[in-house]
Amino acid sequence: IQESSEQVGELVAEYVCKRINDFAPSATRPFVLGLPTGSSPLLCYKHLVDSFKAGKVSFQYVVTFNMDEYCGLPRDHPESYHSFMWHHLFRHIDIQPQNVNILDGNAANFQTECDEYEEKIKELGGIKLFLAGIGPDGHIAFNEPGSSLSSRTRVKTLAQETVVANARFFGGDISAVPRMALTVGVATVLDAEEVLVLITGTHKAYALAKVVEEGVNHMFTVSAVQMHPKAIIVCDEDSTLEL
Ligand code: GLP
Repeated sequence: IQESSEQVGELVAEYVCKRINDFAPSATRPFVLGLPTGSSPLLCYKHLVDSFKAGKVSFQYVVTFNMDEYCGLPRDHPESYHSFMWHHLFRHIDIQPQNVNILDGNAANFQTECDEYEEKIKELGGIKLFLAGIGPDGHIAFNEPGSSLSSRTRVKTLAQETVVANARFFGGDISAVPRMALTVGVATVLDAEEVLVLITGTHKAYALAKVVEEGVNHMFTVSAVQMHPKAIIVCDEDSTLEL
């Protein structure tokens, strides 16, 4: 538990840098990093960029896999997760574009796209560290309430609550928010060697309490991290109000 969201961002960014540097990735042995979108990781991404600029870390041999992407939004739409990631992180660091993996929400065949994503993660030896945020309803990636805890990467219809929560990114216009997304599954996240969940703000207090103090539950899919041998939740004081 950190005092502020700024401290959460800084601590998580330092942790990511340490994990990459300790691993000492190379062309034949890349560090495989899972990444989220949303406002929760923004301060962390800012610190990662600062760390890169200060020469404390290189992403040259880091391969990334993003958690999810909206279906049907053009890749260059300002609210696509492609745009988000390039805007906030990738264009500021030395990552090789071919090492960036983001699901294609405009793929001709969603299931093939999702299966190939899983396959690629496997080929690279799995994800070392998966960063995640959570929705106010306790979802991880786009694994909405009711998702199977053994789910894999697939297409998912968004819960109305998520559509409403994400409307703020679409000028408050609920009708502009895509209704479907491609997302890694709960089991895809649990397969990672380590999972780190960022939770900040009073609007996440209910979800944090459910996730930490109640049982593993498919209605709060992030609670599945309770079953992971190496899971860390980094949160700010505001989000602990219900603990
Ligand atoms: C979306 C994403 C999630 C993210 C959540 C929370 O639903 N699919 O991966 O964790 O938003 O976003 P924020 O961090 O902005 O609260």
